[in-house]
Amino acid sequence: MWLLFVFLLGTVSIISAAETKKPICEVIEVDPENNSDMLLPLAIITDMDSKSKLVDNWYSTIRYGALAFSQNRTSSFIHWLGGINITSNFNFNQKSMEMSDLKIFRNRLLSVDDKLGVVYWLRNGTAIPWVIASTGNGSSSTPFKGEWMTIRNGDLYLGSSGHEVVTAKGEYISDDEMYIRVISGNGAMVTEDWTSRFVKLRRAVGIHFPGFMIHEAVHWSDIHKKWFFLPRYASKLPFDAANFHETGANMLLSTSDCFCDTKVVYIGKNEIHRGFSAFQFIPGTNDEIIVALKTSEVPADPTKPFENKIFSTWITIFKIDGTVILEDLALEDGIKYEGIEFANVFQCL
Ligand SMILES: *[C@@H]1O[C@H](CO)[C@@H](O)[C@H](O)[C@H]1NC(C)=O
Ligand SMILES: *[C@@H]1O[C@H](CO)[C@@H](O)[C@H](O)[C@H]1NC(C)=O
Ligand SMILES: *[C@@H]1O[C@H](CO)[C@@H](O)[C@H](O)[C@H]1NC(C)=O
Ligand SMILES: *[C@@H]1O[C@H](CO)[C@@H](O)[C@H](O)[C@H]1NC(C)=O
Ligand SMILES: *[C@@H]1O[C@H](CO)[C@@H](O)[C@H](O)[C@H]1NC(C)=O
Repeated sequence: MWLLFVFLLGTVSIISAAETKKPICEVIEVDPENNSDMLLPLAIITDMDSKSKLVDNWYSTIRYGALAFSQNRTSSFIHWLGGINITSNFNFNQKSMEMSDLKIFRNRLLSVDDKLGVVYWLRNGTAIPWVIASTGNGSSSTPFKGEWMTIRNGDLYLGSSGHEVVTAKGEYISDDEMYIRVISGNGAMVTEDWTSRFVKLRRAVGIHFPGFMIHEAVHWSDIHKKWFFLPRYASKLPFDAANFHETGANMLLSTSDCFCDTKVVYIGKNEIHRGFSAFQFIPGTNDEIIVALKTSEVPADPTKPFENKIFSTWITIFKIDGTVILEDLALEDGIKYEGIEFANVFQCL
């Protein structure tokens, strides 16, 4: 009965938003004191790697729907309503639209491509390049490997994988992916070297180089005044491209700005092929409850670890104390989603 109610409510409210053609893309806000059933518009975006290529252009799919949450916040339900393809022919070495996060910033729905280092404004089926970043301290021609976006003090923080760049066998190359960009509303960028922050963070769980921790899911919480990290991969052993897809992590790390008080909470059981690719705090939960995406990319033939990777994505909901509310729920086969945001696509796109 409750599910039927929220299903109908979702359809009605989303359609009516489209009919009024309200152009404003707003951050979804819910009063935390209002403990009635919640229904929130949700969107996720794909990173299909080389499979993003069509003929002479590239695409990424936004899937949208609604997340329903019971009054007692112990029961949830996600109803997907449809998909929209965003296409572009902007590319770097024949790669494009490998979107790895989704965030509303100043009334625009933004995404970032991890091969191009471009932050796009997604609008009307197109991807409008907004800012472009290069890797490291900005002295190299390699694009920024943008993996996560969050907002702090009114600025957009754009981060990378947060570990040393290494060879396929784990030999050190540079610290370039431990630099981040702080982007203001008018697009001005400042570079910050977060090497010591990422090193301190992984040290809290006993990981030291050549061990590694790779990030794609990071947020600042203004309520807790802490950074939250859900690593995709983590291992005390050196990086090896042949088997790192078996180092999926299930930990939530949180720390204040000093990176000196890191706490770790384990989320569910560790499935070695799955790791976190994105998350958001659920509006109206005082940043106590998270919805997250987990992905895996496993080679079809283990003797050819770099070829024909099979993609999967799951969605999960849990409290920051580790209590799981929605166990890993598989999305459609063969698709890799790396970005999630509470957004009404009919207003934002
Ligand atoms: C509480 O939330 C419900 C569902 O979103 C909404 O209909 C209702 O108006 C809200 N009540 C208050 C007092 O804000
Ligand atoms: C919470 O609400 C849901 C939906 O109304 C219900 O099915 C469930 O039994 C409730 N759980 C608790 C612990 O009250
Ligand atoms: C997006 O494009 C792909 C590739 O052409 C196609 O398989 C898929 O059905 C499209 N999805 C939508 C929602 O249009
Ligand atoms: C959206 O795209 C369609 C088709 O490409 C175009 O006709 C229309 O003018 C666009 N709308 C806006 C607001 O840019
Ligand atoms: C940037 O890094 C390169 C090498 O990593 C170094 O040679 C250069 O001095 C740095 N530039 C700035 C402005 O920090």
